Amino acid sequence: MPATYPDLRDRTVIVTGGASGIGAAIVAAFAAQGARVGFLDFDIEAGAALADRLAGEDATVRFEPVDLRDIPALRAAIASVREAFGPVGTLVNNAARDDRHPTEDVEPDYFDERIATNFRHHFFASQAVLPDMIGLGGGAIISLSSIVPLAGIGGMPVYSASKSAVVGLVRSLARDYGQHNIRVNAIAPGWIMTERQKTLWLTPEADATRAERQCLARRLVPEDIARPAVFLASEDASAITGQTVVIDGGWV
Ligand SMILES: NC(=O)c1ccc[n+]([C@@H]2O[C@H](COP(=O)([O-])OP(=O)(O)OC[C@H]3O[C@@H](n4cnc5c(N)ncnc54)[C@H](O)[C@@H]3O)[C@@H](O)[C@H]2O)c1
Repeated sequence: MPATYPDLRDRTVIVTGGASGIGAAIVAAFAAQGARVGFLDFDIEAGAALADRLAGEDATVRFEPVDLRDIPALRAAIASVREAFGPVGTLVNNAARDDRHPTEDVEPDYFDERIATNFRHHFFASQAVLPDMIGLGGGAIISLSSIVPLAGIGGMPVYSASKSAVVGLVRSLARDYGQHNIRVNAIAPGWIMTERQKTLWLTPEADATRAERQCLARRLVPEDIARPAVFLASEDASAITGQTVVIDGGWV
C-alpha cells in the first residue's frame, strides 16, 4: 500500500515523458495523492490513453502533446499546465531515450539530438518552473539520471554523458535555489522493467546477468521509482536536496 502525503494534495505537478514507462507510473502515483498532474510527451496515443484512464479514476490530469526537443513548445506546454492548474510546485524531469550508439558511429547531428532528448529539456523545464516555486515559498525538482554512468556501462556514451550532466545540474540548482526552499534531487534507476526494456533488451542472458548483479533477486518495476519520487517531492523529504538517490536493487 503506497504512503499518503497530505501536503501533495492539490499540488501542481509536471512530469515530462509521462505517457509510458516510469513516467506513467510517476504520473499515476502523484495523481493518487490528489495532486493536479500535467504530463508532457510526444507519444500522443499513449498520453491520451493514460489521461483517459486516470480521469476515469477521478484524478486531475492534463496531457500536453509536445516534443521536448523543441524548447519554445516545452515552455508553452508548461505555461498551459500552469494556466489550468496554478503555479507549479513539483517538476519531474523524466523523459529520455536509451538508444544504443557505438562511439564510432556518432556524427555531430546525432550527438546534439542525444543531448536534446536526454538532457537539454531538464534545464529549460527547471528554468520555466523556478519562478512559480519561488512564489510558492518552495518546491521540488526531481530529475532522472541512471546507474549507466555510475556503473560504467558502455554502448551509449552520449546517453551516459547526459545522465552525468543531470547530476551536475541538480547539484548546481540545489545550491542556487535552496535559499528559496526549493529542493532539487536526482534519481538514478538501475534496470527497471518498462515495456520498452522488456521489448528491446530483456533477453534470458541479460536477465541472468541482472539477477547476478542485483543484491535483490526480483526484477524492478516502474513503481519502484515512482514511490520514492513522490516521497522526494513530499514534506517528509524536506531536508533532502542536492542528492542522487540510487534505486537499483543493489547493482554491483
Ligand atoms: N527503464 C530503465 O531501466 C531505466 C534505467 C535508468 C534510467 N532510466 C531513466 O528513467 C527515465 C524513464 O525511462 P523509461 O525507461 O520509463 O523510458 P521509456 O522510453 O519507457 O519512456 C520515456 C517516455 O518519454 C517520452 N519521450 C522521449 N523523448 C521525448 C521527447 N523528445 N519529447 C516528448 N516525450 C519524449 C517517450 O514517448 C516515453 O513516453 C529516463 O530518464 C531514463 O533515462 C530508466
